[in-house]
Amino acid sequence: MLMRKSGTLAGVMELTLFLRMARTGFGMMTALPYHRRLMTNAPIAINHNSGGSGLTSSFRLQSSTTSSFVPPDPPASKGTSVFSDVDLNMAPTADAEGRNGDEDAVFVVTGANRGIGFEMVKALACRTKGRIVACCRKPAEFSLDDSLFPSSRVTVMELDLERQETIDSLKDRIEEELGTDRVDGLFNVAGILGDGKTTPGPERSLAMLNRSWIDKTMAINVIGPVMLVQALAPMMKRSRKDTSTPRSIVVNVSARVGSISDNGLGGWYSYRFSKSALNQATRTMAHELKRQGTYAIAVHPGTTETDLSRPFHSNVKKGSLFPPEFTVKQILDIIDCMNATHTGGLYDWSGKAIPF
Ligand SMILES: NC(=O)c1ccc[n+]([C@@H]2O[C@H](COP(=O)([O-])OP(=O)(O)OC[C@H]3O[C@@H](n4cnc5c(N)ncnc54)[C@H](OP(=O)(O)O)[C@@H]3O)[C@@H](O)[C@H]2O)c1
Repeated sequence: MLMRKSGTLAGVMELTLFLRMARTGFGMMTALPYHRRLMTNAPIAINHNSGGSGLTSSFRLQSSTTSSFVPPDPPASKGTSVFSDVDLNMAPTADAEGRNGDEDAVFVVTGANRGIGFEMVKALACRTKGRIVACCRKPAEFSLDDSLFPSSRVTVMELDLERQETIDSLKDRIEEELGTDRVDGLFNVAGILGDGKTTPGPERSLAMLNRSWIDKTMAINVIGPVMLVQALAPMMKRSRKDTSTPRSIVVNVSARVGSISDNGLGGWYSYRFSKSALNQATRTMAHELKRQGTYAIAVHPGTTETDLSRPFHSNVKKGSLFPPEFTVKQILDIIDCMNATHTGGLYDWSGKAIPF
């Protein structure tokens, strides 16, 4: 598909746009190392005992795995965010300490069978003491491996974001299988982009738009996640009388390319506008959910080494792809450090607010 117009000026322009899109879509890689708090070029060791933020907390990641991954500096965004950055040097908030340390807390993760979602389940099992509902389309194919996470705290449940009945029934299944009517964290991780070869997306031009692919992208990237928030929000309510209960959190995994003001290249139509819609939905629900003691944020994970980004890896600078465990640690650090001023915002993996 990419080479169809090769040899023509249009083909060259399309190829150039495609390569630039691949770079931009996956975070405009630069050679500069990212320094969150280090003033030297030393690699950031992901010490899972400390959560990698230099803070000591009994509820940060507890495996002894380390990584010497050095992320590039996050790119500057075009436009200005109305939100302030989340400072990852801050100690975890009281809400975070409460959520993470509570054995009765429940965290729901979509897209849990692979990629960022799978890593999120592992990280939550280490950073929190609660129970994790790992949602995927084919639970029978999800093997619970005790060497990866304590299976006694992880329950696998079916969820297909294109099938509303699996969304509607999740609340009842959590109540039946876990014997609880509460959810403390919902991580909407599942999403699709397409590979541009076996799928119509990501589309580089109007001519490539395909209605059923747009429907599918919208269903999985925004409609399904929002309907899931609708289904679980009643379980996430904090009692008005008991304000000592930690706030709950909705995390919608979005993408920088969903930013309208930052869109300097075009292309990737349905993926872009599905994520733009997800960002708008996040801000809208944040206003409403704040009243019930729930925060909602959208996060751009950075270009992470998963199946989703694999078709475009050759366009990413060597050594710049984020290991999923790094990405997930960053997302969890953002949640642990965010406060009421951040709910509704879109943040990159370093905590920088991205303009809508
Ligand atoms: N990786 C990156 O560089 C990157 C960059 C920016 C944003 N993101 C975002 O990060 C999120 C996770 O991406 P990833 O890189 O981990 O992707 P991935 O490895 O391709 O995993 C995608 C997950 O979504 C699930 N999924 C697909 N269709 C579904 C459906 N109809 N119902 C329920 N689950 C479904 C997949 O399940 P199956 O195995 O059943 O298909 C899989 O678990 C996505 O929202 C993506 O847009 C990723």
